[in-house]
Amino acid sequence: MADITVIGSNMFELTTYVDRMPVQGETLEAPEFEMGFGGKGANQAIAAARLGSDVNFITMVGDDSFGEQQLANYRANKIRPEGIGVGQGTSGVAPIFVDPTGDNRILIIKGANKQLTPAVLDAKVDLIKGSKLIVLQQEIALETNYHAIALGAQYGVPVLLNPAPANAHLNIEEVSKVAFFTPNETELATLTGMPTDTLDEIKAAANHLIALGVGNLIITLGSKGALWVTKGHAEIVPGKKVHAIDTTGAGDSFIGSFAHYYTQGEDVATALRHANEYAAVTVTRRGTQKAYPTAEELAALKQAE
Ligand code: ATP
Ligand code: RIB
Repeated sequence: MADITVIGSNMFELTTYVDRMPVQGETLEAPEFEMGFGGKGANQAIAAARLGSDVNFITMVGDDSFGEQQLANYRANKIRPEGIGVGQGTSGVAPIFVDPTGDNRILIIKGANKQLTPAVLDAKVDLIKGSKLIVLQQEIALETNYHAIALGAQYGVPVLLNPAPANAHLNIEEVSKVAFFTPNETELATLTGMPTDTLDEIKAAANHLIALGVGNLIITLGSKGALWVTKGHAEIVPGKKVHAIDTTGAGDSFIGSFAHYYTQGEDVATALRHANEYAAVTVTRRGTQKAYPTAEELAALKQAE
């Protein structure tokens, strides 16, 4: 049995590094372009696998050349193949624009990810049973995630739901059933309808969800790290100071590495500290998955500090 079952999206990324975004009607030359593998589900699965977790990834690629490249990428990263389906039509694609400060703008075209339905999960339910954690994001249909949450409850597997990208239609009833809910500040505001501009406001919005039944709320705070909230307890786990050049996929590296450390037996606070360290490395490098270190690389980087 795999340690972690990630259920979610994969995207083929087309990343343009811009000096500035063009205005309406303007054609502008950009200095650089790169292709790479991404998608929130895939990123989280790859981060956990590179750290040494045994990972099932339930996803759908298209029957195109991007899909073939995705399959090769999962093989190279030792993701178990059983969960990966080949659907019809184009794979998910993500045009990304990164500015000189490292901030990004992302479009996603779901493509074959739309074919990841509740019925696909039923067909692959044996992969879910016996996992230590199910990891979900929101680049697939909400119904599929709700079904995954129900399967987790049925087979006693805790669920981590990363509500990214934000979706105001996410049913709060479903959120209350998960063991770990991991929004960033913006996603927390979208979901609760409460402001999240200050730490006190973030705590108030978090406690609103805790009162509804969420076990652990982990709010990512960019360079500031993460806030961990449970009933009657709130703790900042500080981020690591680094020079960020590209933050694309930082949240995914944080979630995937947290899932790894937690399922390896670390307590939540320690796993969060290690996830901050892992994600900090990824923002110092360009790209999404290509920025994610293996366990060996991470150890070498720490030794060199
Ligand atoms: P994204 O959508 O860009 O993937 P996000 O909004 O989901 O990110 P963030 O809160 O920006 O998530 O970042 C996730 C984690 O990555 C943080 O909790 C932190 O550990 C790390 N991180 C992000 N930005 C930085 C930074 N500038 N310096 C150090 N660590 C960072
Ligand atoms: O979270 C970053 C990810 O969102 C990128 O990999 C991009 O592909 C989109 O899915």
